[in-house]
Amino acid sequence: MDSEIICDASEEKTMTEDTTVSCYDDHAQAYDAYQFAAVPGYREMLDLAAEAARRYLSPDARIIDLGCGTGNASLAVLGKMPSARIFLLDGSERMVSVAREKISSAHPRAILGYRVADLAENWAEGLESEGYDCIVSTLVLEHLPLDRYRRAIEECFRLLKPGGWLIASEGYAEEGSDMREWFFQEMEVRRRALDPKLSDFVAGLRGELEQHYYTSKARKAQWWQEAGFCSSAVLWQYLCIALMAGRKPL
Ligand SMILES: C[S@@+](CC[C@H](N)C(=O)[O-])C[C@H]1O[C@@H](n2cnc3c(N)ncnc32)[C@H](O)[C@@H]1O
Repeated sequence: MDSEIICDASEEKTMTEDTTVSCYDDHAQAYDAYQFAAVPGYREMLDLAAEAARRYLSPDARIIDLGCGTGNASLAVLGKMPSARIFLLDGSERMVSVAREKISSAHPRAILGYRVADLAENWAEGLESEGYDCIVSTLVLEHLPLDRYRRAIEECFRLLKPGGWLIASEGYAEEGSDMREWFFQEMEVRRRALDPKLSDFVAGLRGELEQHYYTSKARKAQWWQEAGFCSSAVLWQYLCIALMAGRKPL
């Protein structure tokens, strides 16, 4: 087993308080402009997550968008599966509000429900066990401390119907590889093409407040398996960001 690797954008900030959600809450309105322009592979990753949903699910699937942000993964899925219904969940009230607005204007009947909740706490309370065909989660789960990550994966397993899918893109770290540094260097170059006021505002917030907890794909794949998922596979990877899909046995 590889050693546990925990990385944080700022070594200085306190690890007792999770500041990631407030970081996103503070830039909910600027999120899309920054994210699409600055994050390498972002659009491609969303497209493939949506393609996987179309490939593995029935057209009227019930899906949770876990850490929905401004709803980009949901919109990508609905673009390919317009009859799907989506439950939105994120810790940031403002992100959920932007997501609801975007989705309800493009797909008025698609939102099953929504919740503002902390994924490190009791976010799944009251959600129907075996009530969902799929959980999609893009660029979220690496914000959870690793013990909370494992608990969240177990909750995902509980919420999925037999045969349901977890489709998640996350940041990973592999011992001896510089792919994280490379990724963040690319992001730094890309963000310079944006209006400096917007770019510096978002990058400054993320540098100060965002927390990441990275470990290897092999380790997380093992946790998925221990939670009960079978056949978890890496569908796509760009440097340190990979998209994995795993199925709950029938
Ligand atoms: C990089 S954004 C990704 C959003 C969206 N899935 C996307 O692909 O654009 C990370 C999201 O995770 C949410 N998040 C981070 N930590 C969280 C936590 N502990 N509980 C709930 N949401 C969290 C943030 O509020 C933010 O919306």
